[in-house]
Amino acid sequence: MIMNIRKCFAPTFILLTAMLYAQEKPVPQLGKNSIKEVVAGMTLDEKLLFLKGIGMAVSNGENGPVAGSIDGKVIGAAGSTEAILRLGIPAMIVADGPAGLRIEPVKKGNKLNYPTAFPVGTSLASTWNAQLVNAVGKAMGNEVLEFGIDVILAPGINIQRNLLCGRNFEYYSEDPVIAGTIASAFINGVQSNNVGTSIKHFAANNQETSRNSIDAVVSQRALREIYLRGFEIAIKNANPWTVMSSYNKINGTYTSENYDLLTTILRKEWGYQGMVMTDWYSGKNYAEQVKAGNDLLMPGRKQESKKIEEALENKKLTVEEIDRNIERILSTILKTPSFKKYPYNNNPDFAKNQNTAKLAAEEAMVLLKNNGNALPFHSKKIALLGNASYDTFVGGTGSGEVHSAYTVSFFEGFENAGFQIDADLAKRYQSFIEKEKSARPKRLGILETIKPVEEMPIDGSELQKLAKESDAALITLGRNAGEGSDRDLNQDYKISEKEISLIKNTIAVFHQQNKKVVIALNIDALIDVTQLENLADAILITWLPGQEAGTALAEIVSGKVSPSGKLTQTIPLKYEDVPSSSTFPGTPVERPQKTIYNDGIYVGYRYYSTFKKPVAYEFGYGLSYSVFKIDNIKTNNSTFSKELKVTVDVKNTGKMSGKEVVQLYISAPGKSIEKPIIELKNYSKTENLKPGKSQKIEFKLNASDLASFDTDRLSWIVEPGTYSINIGNSSKNIEQSTSFTVEKEIIVEKVNDVLNPKETFVEIKQK
Ligand code: BGC
Repeated sequence: MIMNIRKCFAPTFILLTAMLYAQEKPVPQLGKNSIKEVVAGMTLDEKLLFLKGIGMAVSNGENGPVAGSIDGKVIGAAGSTEAILRLGIPAMIVADGPAGLRIEPVKKGNKLNYPTAFPVGTSLASTWNAQLVNAVGKAMGNEVLEFGIDVILAPGINIQRNLLCGRNFEYYSEDPVIAGTIASAFINGVQSNNVGTSIKHFAANNQETSRNSIDAVVSQRALREIYLRGFEIAIKNANPWTVMSSYNKINGTYTSENYDLLTTILRKEWGYQGMVMTDWYSGKNYAEQVKAGNDLLMPGRKQESKKIEEALENKKLTVEEIDRNIERILSTILKTPSFKKYPYNNNPDFAKNQNTAKLAAEEAMVLLKNNGNALPFHSKKIALLGNASYDTFVGGTGSGEVHSAYTVSFFEGFENAGFQIDADLAKRYQSFIEKEKSARPKRLGILETIKPVEEMPIDGSELQKLAKESDAALITLGRNAGEGSDRDLNQDYKISEKEISLIKNTIAVFHQQNKKVVIALNIDALIDVTQLENLADAILITWLPGQEAGTALAEIVSGKVSPSGKLTQTIPLKYEDVPSSSTFPGTPVERPQKTIYNDGIYVGYRYYSTFKKPVAYEFGYGLSYSVFKIDNIKTNNSTFSKELKVTVDVKNTGKMSGKEVVQLYISAPGKSIEKPIIELKNYSKTENLKPGKSQKIEFKLNASDLASFDTDRLSWIVEPGTYSINIGNSSKNIEQSTSFTVEKEIIVEKVNDVLNPKETFVEIKQK
């Protein structure tokens, strides 16, 4: 009966119970009373409402207001929590995403204020500059705060297991140390504004194909060392306010319903005290999500409250469990600007933030090749070719899309920097692209990726004319990707025939006149550069550089700034060399439901280096206009006890100022536990060194850096023996080495026997 009344008169019922309650005792208030008292003051209906968010309209209108009608603020935010004003609980507003805020512009006086579009995740990580990423975090946090938002749904740090994952652009690396440390820098930066982050997608969300149902079948060791490790580093070093669980399953269980992942590992082993939310509409069993420690179900559906209530009635869930989750949501809300009634002004420090976005875009660009010093250009007369030079991709699509006030295309950036670009050609490109785009069907929504327009053909006589009037050519190839689908091997990874013929024709004409041809890769993720090997004098990856794309590229090509980005993912000779290529995106092929992680711990360079597979460009690679020498390696001890210090000197021995990334790889004895031949353990970027200048770099190594996960003993172990330290400016180019010994085995930590695969499968192994 009560149930029926609730169904028909839910709002009235809540009000009546609340009023009855109010007559009995004073109503507790968040911030004045303890969190436990506030929870005790909630009615069951309020609790059920509060465990799920609000935010997205669904077609049947079932789950209430669209984000943006919450307190009349933040149009376009991804969602919020329910406000319970009688208990002093405001709505906590959350908005995407990793490359800047995804919200609608806000009216300020008579102008519209838009968030800044920063470089995408892979781009940020390619800087290998934690300090700079921290500054990007600070800038983004300033926008979160001043646009009236509480938590930004970023960073995304899933491992780039396969080149074709559609969301690789949002993610940082194939390596968990890069992922975890760059994430820590970002989170600390954002949260220094007293706003929150949501590290995502926890965990093993390494593909978009069947993302809502795919089961990642993965060994405990690969999980611990590769897929969870980056999260562990960031959780321990930066304490994000919130964690977002992922869509997929791990070894048969949805991550959002997985107690072992969300409670045993995250909270009990790593000591995390913040709040966990689901990804949008993820998982199936809401009561299991609550039980697992998934505090907030996003973006919230009425059926979730109903199912949770049923689980309480059926004793599948306890009131203690829901109270525990509510306490964690409330503890987070207590820290928010919304709770503190921060007088946000919708007017962040745009000029400063745009400059930070530009600096990050510059430092992220990776120079793959520079024959005969084709770059920097010594003349301003450049033939600018390729659609993406005029219609530059600055960010990916999906929840990571940012609606910024403007974007500076490469063409505009070059013009602003005083380059002389053929005006007729520019006009032809612009109208060609416009025409092609307007012929496309209307975009279905943010999950539809914006694909590049096929290259505009340029005939031989036009190229002759361009070669005569310019001193070099720059051709941009563009690629874009987004949430909801993976990249296509032939359409995205491979270079198309039209692109190849544009490049070949340009090279033929320009080389005849002794003029260089440079290719800029305006790409979300890696493409098959081996197809370009003999077709360009220089290749520069610009990534998706954010709204200041063109300004940043102009600084690099004019030589004002020397490139200093390095690859955080290996470029193989061919896609089939990727160790996961045989299992990605899973089986059955027509509609994958399961992906076997056959590559185990051998993801990326761990595989190529150990199994001696030649690659096109190795992990950590990237050229500079200058030359650096790494020298004088020293350790403070030849045996390891608790911590080892390693120093090297880096000298700019070239002719231009620049920064270098110093990378420290360890080779472990690998006797009792099989180990990859090298593993990145630390890195540091120098300051901008003038020619002739040196800098001392110090690294610290501790036992957990050296440890491997021993599945049989369920422990992180440092095995005894001789370890070599290899320092260089890429995973291949090692310039300094030394060694130290570990005399006795060190057991760093014993952990729980959780997340076990339920089936046996073959993993790549050395022996
Ligand atoms: C994405 C998340 C995002 C959320 C809210 C989901 O589709 O996977 O990364 O934060 O939507 O927009």
